[in-house]
Amino acid sequence: MTAPAPKILVADDWQDYRLLDSGNGGKLEQVGPYHFVRPEPQALWSPQAPARDWDGADAIFSPADDDEAGRWRFNGELPPTWTLRWDDLKFQSRPTPFRHLAFFPEHSVHWRYAREWLRGRKGGHPEVLNLFGYTGLASLACASAGAKVTHVDASKKAIGFARDNQQEAGLAQAPIRWICDDALSFVKREIRRGRRYDGVILDPPKFGRGPNGETWQLEGGLAELIDACQTLLRVEPAQRGSARGFFIATVYAVRLSYLALAQTAQQAFEGAAGEWEVGEMALPHANDPRVLPTAIYARWRS
Ligand SMILES: C[S@@+](CC[C@H](N)C(=O)[O-])C[C@H]1O[C@@H](n2cnc3c(N)ncnc32)[C@H](O)[C@@H]1O
Repeated sequence: MTAPAPKILVADDWQDYRLLDSGNGGKLEQVGPYHFVRPEPQALWSPQAPARDWDGADAIFSPADDDEAGRWRFNGELPPTWTLRWDDLKFQSRPTPFRHLAFFPEHSVHWRYAREWLRGRKGGHPEVLNLFGYTGLASLACASAGAKVTHVDASKKAIGFARDNQQEAGLAQAPIRWICDDALSFVKREIRRGRRYDGVILDPPKFGRGPNGETWQLEGGLAELIDACQTLLRVEPAQRGSARGFFIATVYAVRLSYLALAQTAQQAFEGAAGEWEVGEMALPHANDPRVLPTAIYARWRS
């Protein structure tokens, strides 16, 4: 199966997040009321905003190494967390030691896609598995669209933030299982237990560790994990033609083309009815027509 033509998904549905400028290996963002400068290796071009806008940011992140770690320099007081809104969801942003602000705004294109599928489905209680779920926004987007969600992440701290977000979003009663585990080990166990899901979301890092020291390496593990996710979706070989479900995979910061991800996923799902979209995710600039590439993706629904 040939991969479809690539599509750029631009996350242009934010009120509380704006990419103000990028260039010289950095980006200037407004997140709620605060301005941040963070490294951005894709921004090879020159910035367009005046230097004073960059210099006046509330916090500037300086990387220490290639491992995303580094240190924040704060110009004045910043609260430890602040509330943001996307669509009808409220959640918390905060500066983390790994340069992130506890959410990835470009992912809103996939939250919307998952919600559309969930809301368009008639009857039953769809079940969604969110792997490498981080601070839980995809889980909350799916839960608020009526799904039972299983959220898996290896970090207790990230799950703690995700639970805070569940409260903030007013979804304390929503059926979400928070599981601290290694993603691949969990998926294999679910297969042995005969569990099945209607939707799977996968946002693996380049490198990570499970809570028991399991090593996750994207290039070595992705094909096996996608294959296992395909088994967990109700896409059994005998009934692939009539499959109903969705699958979303994103990949950051590795030297992989969207075609590599797309063809790996299409191979695992071979024969499944449904529609694929593949390509790049990007953020629009608030004040000019450029878009900033952030990740590659492959997604499927039927
Ligand atoms: C959201 S992903 C990162 C993907 C991201 N968009 C990026 O920039 O690479 C990071 C999450 O994966 C989790 N993680 C790392 N290794 C893991 C593993 N082996 N099993 C489950 N979760 C893991 C981390 O705790 C973190 O919350």
